[in-house]
Amino acid sequence: MPLYYVLFFSPLCAINCFLLVHSCTVSKISLSVIRCFSCSVILLKAEENMSENNNEKLYSENLYTTPLSLEEELPRLASQARLLFAGQSHFVPQVPLPVKEGKFIDVGSGPGVHLSLVKNLFPGFAFTGVELSPQLSQYARLNFTGIDWREGSVYKIPAEDASYDIAQASFLFIHLREPHLALAEINRVLKPGGVFFVLDVDDSTFKGMQAMQDLVSAHLKVYEADRTIMSRMKGLAESAGFEQIKEDFVYVDNKGKEEAPIIAYPEFHLGKISFWSMFAFMGQRSEVAVAYDKAHQEYMSSSDNHCEISVIFQAYKKK
Ligand SMILES: C[S@@+](CC[C@H](N)C(=O)[O-])C[C@H]1O[C@@H](n2cnc3c(N)ncnc32)[C@H](O)[C@@H]1O
Repeated sequence: MPLYYVLFFSPLCAINCFLLVHSCTVSKISLSVIRCFSCSVILLKAEENMSENNNEKLYSENLYTTPLSLEEELPRLASQARLLFAGQSHFVPQVPLPVKEGKFIDVGSGPGVHLSLVKNLFPGFAFTGVELSPQLSQYARLNFTGIDWREGSVYKIPAEDASYDIAQASFLFIHLREPHLALAEINRVLKPGGVFFVLDVDDSTFKGMQAMQDLVSAHLKVYEADRTIMSRMKGLAESAGFEQIKEDFVYVDNKGKEEAPIIAYPEFHLGKISFWSMFAFMGQRSEVAVAYDKAHQEYMSSSDNHCEISVIFQAYKKK
């Protein structure tokens, strides 16, 4: 074993140079036996193996579900999934696919509503849905057959290297603290030439009432991940080994009717309440409570409350 010098104060002579005489790892704890040059006192130094612990923490981190009630979130996710699917019905046919029949993996598949619709755009493919939340994964398994539902993290996708032709992440990246690691992992499971579809909202595109803008900005500052990630996705994806092949924008506003959204691609017109529900989750954060109450009150009471936000669709090819 190589010898190392360690800076550490001896309790006997107060000299701070020790020689490492032995080290090993026991139950994720690194143990080092070190001996002082001067007084020869021998110490046992124990440290948590941080990189392993940090990885474990990352693999189980779910910024999306942490503050939410899934019962309340399910209907909202289901209606959002139908809207996204309407957008993808226009976007997907514009993207050249590497194969006509193959394997498709969706990461962060939630309750499965979205993937069960998207499936129809890729006839001839076999589908896998990976979801971190055991409850959502189980919901998908019980409700949608014909898809291989797996529990797992986008940071450690339960799949072999180069085993998929197409990957998708829908409304996942805005919830990730380490998007570059997720992109590297998606790249790993794709075959060379494989296509990656990523779609997400981008809070930096929000336009509308000042009180709403203030709420969106206040939330951006406290949210642990980045709800403007789509603005820098191209650079991140290129660094992870992808090249962009297509990009499209869908503009979502609140000029529609409550009963059903008006879909006039690339414009989606939601009712006033449905549009607000896209932001209602922000009320979970006590740090933005004042901005939230102000925005809610002004939005609901004003007739001049036009607001708009973009959802961005991108397709990449693995180089
Ligand atoms: C907004 S939902 C989107 C669900 C679905 N893709 C859709 O478009 O309807 C985000 C999903 O990502 C999951 N998620 C969050 N962090 C994850 C991670 N690190 N790995 C895998 N899934 C994750 C959440 O549990 C949630 O189901």
